[in-house]
Amino acid sequence: QIIATNNTNKWVPICSFSEVEPGDVMQAELPDGHKLAVYNLDGDIYVTDDRCTHGEASLSEDGMVEGEEIECTWHFGRFDIRTGKACAMPCTVPLKTWNVEVQGDQVFVEDDRS
Ligand code: FES
Repeated sequence: QIIATNNTNKWVPICSFSEVEPGDVMQAELPDGHKLAVYNLDGDIYVTDDRCTHGEASLSEDGMVEGEEIECTWHFGRFDIRTGKACAMPCTVPLKTWNVEVQGDQVFVEDDRS
């Protein structure tokens, strides 16, 4: 299911667009089990790593979308969903963000891990 390549990266299907309600977040998984958080912000899909960089919390399960930020309910740290930037303590390490492509109802991310 590779739709594009730029030397080493590949696009991987992770979920359906219609599964993610506007203002919501859901969990998706890469084929190797790496967990992702998929957000719908006013019809635009964003994807970050699912695991909070402060601890073991799953942002899709333990997080609350607040505008364009995700708040981790374990210790109330926050991240900017679009950039991954940590924007409230105790979170200081940014979240990895993923390039997203939506084709029809299918959401793809670019696997750029080395
Ligand atoms: Fe997310 Fe601590 S585990 S803020």
